Amino acid sequence: MNFEDQIRDFSKQVKFSADFGKLAPFNNIIISGMGGSGISGNIFSEIYDKAPVQVVSDYNLPSYADENTLFIGISYSGNTEETISAAREAIKKNCQIRLITSGGILSELGQETVIVPKGFQPRAALGYLLKPFLNTFISSDESIYADISRLLLEMESDNSKEKEIAKLIFQKNSIPYVLGFPPFRWVAYRWKTQFNENSKILAFSSYFPELDHNDAIPMKLTYGKDNFSFLVFGGSTGQIEKRVRYTSEVTSTDFITVEPKGKTLLEKLFYLIHAGDYISYHLAKLREIDAEDVSVITELKDRLKS
Ligand code: F6R
Repeated sequence: MNFEDQIRDFSKQVKFSADFGKLAPFNNIIISGMGGSGISGNIFSEIYDKAPVQVVSDYNLPSYADENTLFIGISYSGNTEETISAAREAIKKNCQIRLITSGGILSELGQETVIVPKGFQPRAALGYLLKPFLNTFISSDESIYADISRLLLEMESDNSKEKEIAKLIFQKNSIPYVLGFPPFRWVAYRWKTQFNENSKILAFSSYFPELDHNDAIPMKLTYGKDNFSFLVFGGSTGQIEKRVRYTSEVTSTDFITVEPKGKTLLEKLFYLIHAGDYISYHLAKLREIDAEDVSVITELKDRLKS
């Protein structure tokens, strides 16, 4: 499947119905995953508040991990060393374990595992990696995901708006700086990583209200500002809506606003994720760069194995 088709699969992925099965009671959730896999845990952690959730993008688990911990390890390839190490530690510590992978070493650990389809770049399989969390902990109502799928399909057949935004970034020869706000802080970070991996460009992300206590200061300075395109998600309300407006005014910074379509939180969440997929993909095309290629990541992983 070519990379554009992988991106276009998202409207199908959102209907993926796998979940984590029956779970024993737990006190806390620890999620382990890196890059395009780990982000699903981060995004979930921002919309779930029934138990403490910690996402570990590292080799080791925090010392509190024990038999009352639900450990969820996610690695699309199943061969990412940090995630394998964390999963092995979780087994040793008698955590309740669930894994998500398409195969590899993770699938051979003898644990309860959600197997996702092969043939994708991990970052283009986000629907498969995120849905088990949503189906288990948020809602398994298929009609919710059918509505989201329709919304994503619209973008997949017409992503000219996303292409326009990519053009603005490209024509300015600028670095994307993505400004999110709760519950889309990790979506902003996902955009940053999509710009990194798809467009092969350095990118930054930050979020309201925190950024008003730091990023806003250099935003006011003219020095270097033209090197950036500031992208902000639309649809904020209350104090956050004011903060977006006042920050732009006080710092004299133009924001490119990306309005999420949809009514519910999940609709907006998926819409914004996909908008970032397309903007970063179009930016790669404008830069005449292969959006799929991640040979630098592969080379690093190979060297670490030797
Ligand atoms: C590649 C990508 C990477 C990987 C990361 C971890 O498309 O998105 O960020 O996700 O190197 O690998 P996996 O996901 O196989 O554990």
